[in-house]
Amino acid sequence: MLECPRCKKLYNPDPHKFACNKCGELLDAKIILDRVRPSWNDRFERRIHVWRYRDLLPEIDNENIVTLYEGGTPLIKLSGSNVYVKFEGLNPTGSFKDRGMTVGVSIAKSIRVKTIIVASTGNTAASAAAYSARAGIECLVVLPKGGVAKGKLVQAILHGAKIVEVEGSFDKALDIVITTVVNSKVKGLAYPLNSFNVWRLEGQKTLAYEVFEEIGIPDWVIVPVGNAGNIYAIWKGFKELYELGLCNKLPKMIGVQAEGASPIASAWIRGLNIPLFTDNPKTVASAIRIGKPVNWYRAWRAVSESGGFFTIVNDDEIIKAQKILGKEGISVEPASASSMAAYLRLINEGVIDRKDLTILVATGHGLKDPDIILKDFQTMSVKNIDELVNTVINLNST
Ligand code: F0G
Repeated sequence: MLECPRCKKLYNPDPHKFACNKCGELLDAKIILDRVRPSWNDRFERRIHVWRYRDLLPEIDNENIVTLYEGGTPLIKLSGSNVYVKFEGLNPTGSFKDRGMTVGVSIAKSIRVKTIIVASTGNTAASAAAYSARAGIECLVVLPKGGVAKGKLVQAILHGAKIVEVEGSFDKALDIVITTVVNSKVKGLAYPLNSFNVWRLEGQKTLAYEVFEEIGIPDWVIVPVGNAGNIYAIWKGFKELYELGLCNKLPKMIGVQAEGASPIASAWIRGLNIPLFTDNPKTVASAIRIGKPVNWYRAWRAVSESGGFFTIVNDDEIIKAQKILGKEGISVEPASASSMAAYLRLINEGVIDRKDLTILVATGHGLKDPDIILKDFQTMSVKNIDELVNTVINLNST
């Protein structure tokens, strides 16, 4: 079923239905838990990826499932801590978007969609392009000109997407996509797979199931927030486990935004109850450079229900956190490092205790945004073999 979180109006499941007719709010997908309960254990017969949990996902015939074996990403414990990084950069296209895209594109295939359309800061474009290619569906991506990291653009090109660039931010690109699919004369001809599409978010909730299977329910889950769909999806996953009677506690969710692109977190911190939308979001973390998150109400509800909060980190903290994770062998893009940056700050402020079991969601791979890393890097130069030998000796003595 689909349910409006504001006016509680119910709708039958429909791939094209995203918002309430009565009040316009984005709808929640409700699963009928009684139907799931007896089959939850069937998952053991399936490999660890998103479709392991198919009893909790939209029903799709086998021949329409479009998969690259997404999910099943490593949960890496940081040295000497009780902190685990859920390394979503190891999904097939290098970000968590693949969890949602396998579901969204499978639905698109089953309803015989010919074109998929997304606006993107890059990762959604890369993922939509790859899954569309696998399904044999055309993919059109709308990008903020100059606002997408090189690695992500290259992926979209490689997988054969048609690319349109628009002046302005991601919010402008998304506005154009919404207008195209909802109000224009091509209405219904292109299927949107941005995160306002609730079916895509159903795939993203599987991250919670994987964490639960591996280490149980954590105390805190820290998630970078941009258009604000993922934190809601992850919370929904944990809540379903609770409602199924599989666990008796829930984590507190922390949503992180970057200073300069923090419409939700700024409002939360000031005690307001609607975001402080901005027209000109700015941050080094291009993936979350978003001023008007469409899913803000979903994210707000998730964080409030969980007893968590939103917080802000600045670009320097993000880059520092990216380097710290790099030294642990984990390569993340700047947006993904914001969860580590928030963790470091919250430990310092005494909000999180070092003993608390904490999950950092590392949403995307470092290879996607090489320019940031190369910007202040210098190679070592040696004039001859002796200098190289001395360098080795020096390294050994440190
Ligand atoms: N981290 C990364 C690496 C992302 O690419 C995104 C969103 C987020 C975090 C935030 O997730 O929007 O669900 O709150 N990227 C979108 C895109 C906007 O177009 O790829 P969110």
